[in-house]
Amino acid sequence: MKVGIVGASGYVGGELMRLLVRHPEIEITSVSSTRHSGEKVSRIHPDLYGLTDLKFEDITPLDMAGKVDLIFLALPHGTSIKYVPGLVETGVKIIDMSADFRLKNPELYKPWYGYEHGYPDLIKKFVYGMPELHREQIKNATYIATPGCIASSSIYSIAPFLSLELSSDIINVDAKVGSSGSGSGLDESKVFSERFDSIRAYKPVNHRHTPEIEQELEYASGKKVKIALSAHSVNMVRGILTTSSIYSEGDEITLWSLLRKFYGNEKFIRLIMDRKSNYKYPDPKTVIGSNFADIGFAIDKYVKRVVSFGAIDNLIKGAAGNAVQSMNIMNGFNEYEGLMMPSLFPV
Ligand SMILES: NC(=O)c1ccc[n+]([C@@H]2O[C@H](COP(=O)([O-])OP(=O)(O)OC[C@H]3O[C@@H](n4cnc5c(N)ncnc54)[C@H](OP(=O)(O)O)[C@@H]3O)[C@@H](O)[C@H]2O)c1
Repeated sequence: MKVGIVGASGYVGGELMRLLVRHPEIEITSVSSTRHSGEKVSRIHPDLYGLTDLKFEDITPLDMAGKVDLIFLALPHGTSIKYVPGLVETGVKIIDMSADFRLKNPELYKPWYGYEHGYPDLIKKFVYGMPELHREQIKNATYIATPGCIASSSIYSIAPFLSLELSSDIINVDAKVGSSGSGSGLDESKVFSERFDSIRAYKPVNHRHTPEIEQELEYASGKKVKIALSAHSVNMVRGILTTSSIYSEGDEITLWSLLRKFYGNEKFIRLIMDRKSNYKYPDPKTVIGSNFADIGFAIDKYVKRVVSFGAIDNLIKGAAGNAVQSMNIMNGFNEYEGLMMPSLFPV
């Protein structure tokens, strides 16, 4: 199958190429960048040196659609939406990495993203690309909206516990995010001397992933909860750790059985429970480079809460990995093709 990537010079575009360049069912035939048009992709993504001769093209998404069967939009939010209405007329399959088609309620775009959506009928055609929750819908999908990175880690680690009786409908989520989570665009706050060794509360309130997490937790559990999310950038390049407080009681056996029941044989969800390991709880360090989401918990009897943990590589299970997994499912390929690599350790 021929695929194209719009916004291929960015971090998510680069990660898509890294995963797809050796995928046996895929030929990458077009990758776009306005800034780097004509340059070899390995100049910007040096991990691909010797693995591909692809060059960036300054090509519109509509022109790219004429050359490929499936198009990935690795563009900022508010940009994909400009191209999608035209692309759906071409018959090309679309996997959008931005937030533009994740929220089912179009009214939420104005308060959370600052723009009126304007395409409620198109939103209905997109499936939220989280295979563990939406596998059957993804099988029949033509258009996928891939989840956000903090949203993924939060949903994976909270959803199984929502069948407990909750004493509060508020769930606190503390997210620690590596620098690649904010993309490759430049601004002063990303200068090495400002960024290195800092733990910065970059979005202590009103994080845009809030409604997406609430939407999917309601889908998974039937319960409406409120997410109180605070996001911090930390001294890592890749990786996210979310630590969530779910106000409820449960013993260890009950909580483990909830996790096992919820995830069954999901190959990319790992339940972390080795109390003798250095890594007793999920840690981004042990998932970097992989498509795994590591999930675990601790029980706080003092204030009656379950503290749940999720760790992912934001560029893989939080972006390109989930997108490739969805691509595999929607095209009838082996779901795990190109994704079963172990993480890098130590990093
Ligand atoms: N980074 C993560 O961990 C992560 C995780 C999940 C989802 N996402 C989402 O994935 C998308 C891409 O993220 P990223 O981290 O790869 O961002 P990025 O590194 O900033 O890359 C985005 C690319 O889009 C292109 N672009 C920017 N504005 C454009 C425009 N108006 N028209 C056409 N192309 C434009 C740029 O390429 P040229 O200027 O070279 O054309 C740029 O390289 C975003 O929506 C992001 O929210 C990111």
